[in-house]
Amino acid sequence: GYDDEQECDYLFKAVMIGDSAVGKSNLLSRFSRNEFRVDSKPTIGVEFAYRDVRVGDKVIKAQIWDTAGQERFRAITSSYYRGALGALVVYDISRRATFDNVDKWLDELRGFSSPDMVIVLVGNKSDVGRQLREVSEEEGRSLAEIQGLSFMETSARDNVNVDSAFLEMIAKIH
Ligand code: GTP
Ligand code: MG
Repeated sequence: GYDDEQECDYLFKAVMIGDSAVGKSNLLSRFSRNEFRVDSKPTIGVEFAYRDVRVGDKVIKAQIWDTAGQERFRAITSSYYRGALGALVVYDISRRATFDNVDKWLDELRGFSSPDMVIVLVGNKSDVGRQLREVSEEEGRSLAEIQGLSFMETSARDNVNVDSAFLEMIAKIH
């Protein structure tokens, strides 16, 4: 049976991309440490975090990479994507421009990764009120369908669908 001493059966690398301030780092800290920061700073360079996930009778160590959405703080692109089997492409449902840029992120991702990479489109900040929402859930779902991606709206703040988004990706890689 499973215990903390058990070695992992697989190590999977996955990457997070999307515009600055969409909540990538907070999604990752929520997933890996159950933490959220209202006052988080933009990421500079690359950070990563691990979480062990059980899929069936296997233990998978997910190594999730997180980089800056801002061009000037980004890491070297090719090494960021190298070996990644999964990706979360994140936008902010309260800022339309971050949704419009999803195509740009997908182009870059597909330029550097294998065609069988598992990609989940994530509309984050689903906690914002109706008046602040600029992208409907239907628009997100339909873009994902056109692009052949999984889709989920999440809230890193309220911890809604965060595990589901990562686990969807990890289970499909497996
Ligand atoms: P870069 O590192 O610059 O690319 O940004 P990022 O995508 O990592 O964004 P980050 O996680 O730093 O979050 C940016 C801001 O959005 C912070 O003020 C967070 O508190 C806030 N934020 C993140 N997730 C949520 C969420 O689910 N809901 C709300 N309301 N705010 C969020
Ligand atoms: Mg960040």
